[in-house]
Formats: sequence, C-alpha cells, structure tokens
Amino acid sequence: MAATIFVPCDSAALAAGADRVAAAVEQEAARRGRDVRIVRNGSRGMLWLEPLVEVQTQAGRIAYGPVRPGDVPGLFDAGWLDGGRHALCHGPTDEISYLREQERLTFARVGITDPLSLADYEAHGGWRGLRNALDMAPDTVVQTVMDSGLRGRGGAAFPTGIKWKTVLSTPASQKYIVCNADEGDSGTFSDRMLMEGDPFALIEGMAIAGLAVEATQGFIYVRSEYPHAIAALNAAIDIARRDNWLGDDIQGSGKAFHLEVRKGAGAYICGEETSLLESLEGKRGVVRAKPPLPAIQGLFGQPTVVNNVISLATVPAILANGAAWYRDYGMGRSQGTLPFQLAGNVRHGGLVEKAFGVTLNTLLHDFGGGSASGRPFRAAQVGGPLGAYLPVSQWDTPIDYEAYAAISAMVGHGGVVAFDDTVDMAQMARYAMEFCAIESCGKCTPCRIGSTRGVEVIERIVRSDGEARERQLALLNDLCDTMLGGSLCALGGMTPFPVQSAIRHFPEDFGLDPAMSACAD
Ligand SMILES: Cc1cc2nc3c(=O)[nH]c(=O)nc-3n(C[C@H](O)[C@H](O)[C@H](O)COP(=O)(O)O)c2cc1C
Ligand code: SF4
Repeated sequence: MAATIFVPCDSAALAAGADRVAAAVEQEAARRGRDVRIVRNGSRGMLWLEPLVEVQTQAGRIAYGPVRPGDVPGLFDAGWLDGGRHALCHGPTDEISYLREQERLTFARVGITDPLSLADYEAHGGWRGLRNALDMAPDTVVQTVMDSGLRGRGGAAFPTGIKWKTVLSTPASQKYIVCNADEGDSGTFSDRMLMEGDPFALIEGMAIAGLAVEATQGFIYVRSEYPHAIAALNAAIDIARRDNWLGDDIQGSGKAFHLEVRKGAGAYICGEETSLLESLEGKRGVVRAKPPLPAIQGLFGQPTVVNNVISLATVPAILANGAAWYRDYGMGRSQGTLPFQLAGNVRHGGLVEKAFGVTLNTLLHDFGGGSASGRPFRAAQVGGPLGAYLPVSQWDTPIDYEAYAAISAMVGHGGVVAFDDTVDMAQMARYAMEFCAIESCGKCTPCRIGSTRGVEVIERIVRSDGEARERQLALLNDLCDTMLGGSLCALGGMTPFPVQSAIRHFPEDFGLDPAMSACAD
C-alpha cells in the first residue's frame, strides 16, 4: 500500500519551498521504488517549521520540519515512512504542544485534510451544519447564531446574529452575503490560511448565511495579494457546485445559493465594509456614510450581510454542534475562540486558536517561545495597525473584547505583532500616522489632513525639547481628539490608539518625562 505523505500547499509553506520538497519526495520515492501518495494539505500553523511534512504511520501522523529538498534522501534513509527518528522529527503532530494546547474549533480541519477533497471534508464533519440549516426555518438559524454569542471576527466584534436578523427582517427581492476577505491588518493571516486550507468551510458558512437571511447570491472579496487563496476558493466553488452544495437546488431542498469570488483592489480601506461594497460595485473604494447600514442598503442598494472569513467559517461548526457548545468556550461576552496570529519578533510565529481569556504572556512566551532575537520583549501591537501598543506590564490582561476596551486596547482580528527592547516607539507612533496618511480614502478632513499633520507633529516632539516639546504634545493630543471624534470611519478614528498608547506607555522614547505621559490620555 502507498505511504501517505502530507506536504502543505499553504502560501507560507510554498514560500519556504514546499513545492520543491514535494517534487524531491516524489523523485526520491521513485528512485527507491517506494510507492508514495503525496497529499497537499493546508498548514498546521507552525510557521517556523514550514515546510512541515507529515508521514501517515500506524502510530498516526509524524511531523518532520522544516524540510528542505536536500533533507529528503536522509529522511528516507532514516525510515521516515515508518516514523523513523531524524533530527527534523517532532514526533506525532497532534502531540506537539503548540497544537495540543489549542482549542481548534474554526481551524479543526486546517492542515489535516486535503483542502479540495469533498470526501475528506465530509469525513471530518463537513456539511453537517448546512444539512441542519436546510431543515430549519431562517429565523431559527439566526437565533442559533445569536445564541452562540459569535461576534464579528473582522475587527468590530459586532454580534453576527443581530446583523443577520436585521437582514432577514428587511424585505427585498434580492439580498446578498458578502465575505470580507481583504485581510489588511498587519501581522494577520488567519483568513488566508482558512481559505487555502479549508475553503469548503467558508462556502458552507456562506450558504448557511444565505439560508438564514434569504439571500441567494454571495461574493467573496479576496485581497489581490492572495492568489493561492483565490485559486483554492474558485476550485472549491466549482466542486461544491458540481456536487450540489451550491446552485439552484442545494441537495434537492429547492433552496438556492450562488457564490462568486472577486479580487480586491489593493487598498487597506477596501477592507472597511462600505468601501468594500463600493469596490465590489466597480467603483473606487471610498467609505460610505452610515446610516444606512449595509444590512439595510448594502451591495447595489440591497440588504447585505458583510462578514469576515473567520466569522462565516465558524458558523458551520455552530450549526453542527449547537449554540451551547460554542458559547462554552471563552469568557464574559467574548464567547468561543479566536484564531490568534503571532507575528513580528517572535520565535515561533504562527496560528494559535484559543478560547477568549488567554493572555499575551501565554501566547508570546508559552506558544511563541519568546522573541526571535533572544532579547527581552518590550511591546506588542494587538488588532492590526489601528490597535494599541501594549507594554509587557499589561500582558496578563485576559484577551476579551471588554477587558481590552477597558485598557484602551482592541482585540480586532487577533493579530499580535511582537517587538523586542530595541524598538523605537516614537518611530512606531509616527508610522501609525503615516500609514493613515497613505491609506486614507480622503473623504473626511480629520483623517486626510490630520494624519499628515500628525506625522509632522510627532517629528517635532522628537526633535524639540522643554516647553516647545510640551506645546507639540498638547497639539498632538488635540489632533488625536479631533481624529477620534470627527472621522467618518475607524481608520481616522482609531489611528490615535497606537499613537497615544505609545506615548502613554513609552514616554521616554519621545524624550518625555514619564510623569508627563498622563497628557497622552
Ligand atoms: C479601515 C478598516 C479596515 C478594515 N479591514 C477589514 C478587513 O481587512 N477584513 C475584515 O474582515 N474586516 C475589516 N474591517 C471591518 C469591516 O468594516 C467590518 O466590520 C467587517 O467586515 C464585518 O464583518 P464581521 O462582523 O464578521 O467582523 C475594516 C474596518 C476598517 C475601518
Ligand atoms: S476616516 Fe479616513 S478612511 Fe475613513 S472615511 Fe474618513 S478619510 Fe476615509
């Protein structure tokens, strides 16, 4: 019988040479007359081990990594087809503590199955949620999602069920489901990993959303920098359509849902839901004023659910296992799990799905293994470029939406970017303003002009001293207040968070007396 070898086809693994490793395995096996079947799975999310190659043995899947093409003959010599010992061997994959200590609900199949195998998908619990939803009334599906406590994983953490309820109760001849796969936050990659590693989960989640709100058409708006995700989704949609999981008559139910992929326009602001809708309509990505909410007047003026990839891909498991099962995870009003993404200066970067309540210390030390540079950590930015910088003294705060809001931070899409003690926080604050200036859609003045003035004021704070510095600091605080209160969307409205957190927690980097940092509040 052929030995099964898993070589990931995830972008991170491909960037580390996975295709060349797969070719080397094939050639070496042929040279030795060994019969092997290579499965291109998603990534397990342990990015420092990519390409992580797994061999199916009697004792389960055994992990080897990072494997280079030149390692392959030695791995055969070591008898890896039977789980043989080798310097690159990490033992049974599921026993690696990085994976064992996670609660993988949304990512349950990622890295385990062949992303485009329907048989694999079904064997690992796929379509159970949609099957259940097909037998339920739309408002029961909405109620289940509401009861699960699921909140939007794109950043704003709005309750998913409430958004769906609004769309369901808004009459229209055509409604839409739009998946936000623009994933523009720095240090984030969970959407990409999910789309590449388990595309049917997103398709199933969107079909369930369609049934729940009576929408028959869906679009997935994927950032253009994700060609592998786009290819995986298009292939999976074709397969699902052929097998009647999409189309006019899903599994003979008489219910319809159609799905198409659209390539994003390459701007951070196109991830903001109303800009995204403009872009989907073929226009420039500029923010729309709200109201009306997209749930009432969204794509082409019709009621539209806009949800993040992770929000939608979590729905099938909720419909399959029940609302109570999901809400059992997490704490307070932050129920379920979040796929955290560890990036920046961290030894073991990757994807860690944990229930809310985990701390940065656990994520960055226990999972992350400390800084990549070996130097002490100094700060972490959580929640993308608009998230606050958290000093190490705050790393024991449980990560939950409310607990983070209480310390003027945000959880966002779960991106965690770590910095060691060489980071210059004044430069990071300047960068936050510069990022806003570059990415601003230009519609409102506090963001368009304020961010450019912000860069200049921060430069003056760093350059000046004494009273002049104090005056510039007061000016910056005024500017931040104006951006916070006067911006039309969260790009301008939240840029003050990284800026003010940097001043508050690291005043010395701005040449300020720590006692003065209270001015930044
Ligand atoms: C500047 C800006 C960029 C955003 N980028 C993204 C993004 O890349 N992906 C995403 O899912 N949400 C993004 N959002 C949030 C969306 O506007 C919206 O809240 C989200 O798509 C709703 O889905 P959810 O409820 O499932 O999170 C962004 C918001 C802002 C203000
Ligand atoms: S805050 Fe910035 S990105 Fe948002 S609408 Fe105003 S100008 Fe556009």
